Amino acid sequence: MKILITAGPTYERIDPVRFIGNFSTGKMGFALAQACAERGFEVVLIAGVVHLQIQHANIKRIDVESAAQMYDAVMENFPECDMAIFCAAVADFTPETVYSQKVKRKDNDLIIKLKPTKDIAAAAGKTKRENQFIVGFALETNDEESNAIAKMQRKNSDMIVLNSLNDSGAGFGWDTNKVTMISKNGDKTALPLLSKKEVAEKIIDEIIKIKS
Ligand code: C5P
Repeated sequence: MKILITAGPTYERIDPVRFIGNFSTGKMGFALAQACAERGFEVVLIAGVVHLQIQHANIKRIDVESAAQMYDAVMENFPECDMAIFCAAVADFTPETVYSQKVKRKDNDLIIKLKPTKDIAAAAGKTKRENQFIVGFALETNDEESNAIAKMQRKNSDMIVLNSLNDSGAGFGWDTNKVTMISKNGDKTALPLLSKKEVAEKIIDEIIKIKS
């Protein structure tokens, strides 16, 4: 089994010293990569800008910075994978033009025009073969379950992991997470607050259960 995992945030450059980013640390994606490697999967881990180390003979790590670079790395590697878990917090917008010199302070406002990035999970979903399996993540603030299900369908994923924003100890930066797994066949499993390692194990158990 070969699995592709995206993890962490992307950085979108404004000028040589500034970027637009987000608070993702990559912990959930790295926990998934570690758990998959320990089960003997071959892992391609595509990581945004994170401050994490990972060492395992089964893990090939590809470091990227921007959403565009992550897109290219995924498109190159997904065709030869059996599964993908899109765990990265990819920027949805990127500056239309990147200043080649550091932008100087001025008294008037600075307006930066942003253009949408490509949706990596959706693009992979479009190319998905019958025997490939895709897991997406969703972070919703309202109508969580119906939005997550709509997202799974729109991106042609087979399962979606809904992150809770309403529980302390869950989400960005924490070592714990509280998620609900929803699969294409309608199965729904709400997990309690667990370590990200335990959440990773449960997600992999669920994928194996659905695939076998
Ligand atoms: O649409 P939304 O950003 O809420 O979707 C979240 C899911 O889509 C996650 O699995 C995330 O990794 C993935 N995604 C992506 N490329 C984007 C935006 C989101 O792969 N540009």
